Amino acid sequence: MEPFAHPNDLLTVREVVARTGVAPSALRFYEAHGLITTERNRGNQRLYRRHMLRRISLILAARRLGIPLADVAEIFTTLPADEAPSHRDWVRVSREWKRQLEDRRRYIMNLERQLTACIGCGCLSMKLCDLLNPDDRLRTRGQGPVRLHESSECIDPA
Ligand code: FES
Repeated sequence: MEPFAHPNDLLTVREVVARTGVAPSALRFYEAHGLITTERNRGNQRLYRRHMLRRISLILAARRLGIPLADVAEIFTTLPADEAPSHRDWVRVSREWKRQLEDRRRYIMNLERQLTACIGCGCLSMKLCDLLNPDDRLRTRGQGPVRLHESSECIDPA
């Protein structure tokens, strides 16, 4: 029978890679950006507390959702550093990411609507521009595709 797995058990890089499927280079990247932490053994090899598996899983989930790593790092500052995130933590994180996804969905829907009409970029090259942006009046409201950036719900996914 396998011994009881404690959240503070130390795992080697190889064990973490086997469990998560994340490459060692990506683990070092996450560590360098403060998303996960490691400890060192006497041989200066990285060791990971077992509860880091949960953080790594959250990073992978965020990547699949298109959540930028900077946003993941920000929300990770609100999670306990020395133990696995609790169910309550997960509910809070997932609520925040859901809000971000809804913002992105609205942004994309706005893009879809605007792409068939004048986007207010200043080109005045489409017939609709004469109707929707006569005399390039939108230039007073900003640079680039003004209409795409105007909505307060819009986010810049870059
Ligand atoms: S599409 Fe460029 S100003 Fe209308």
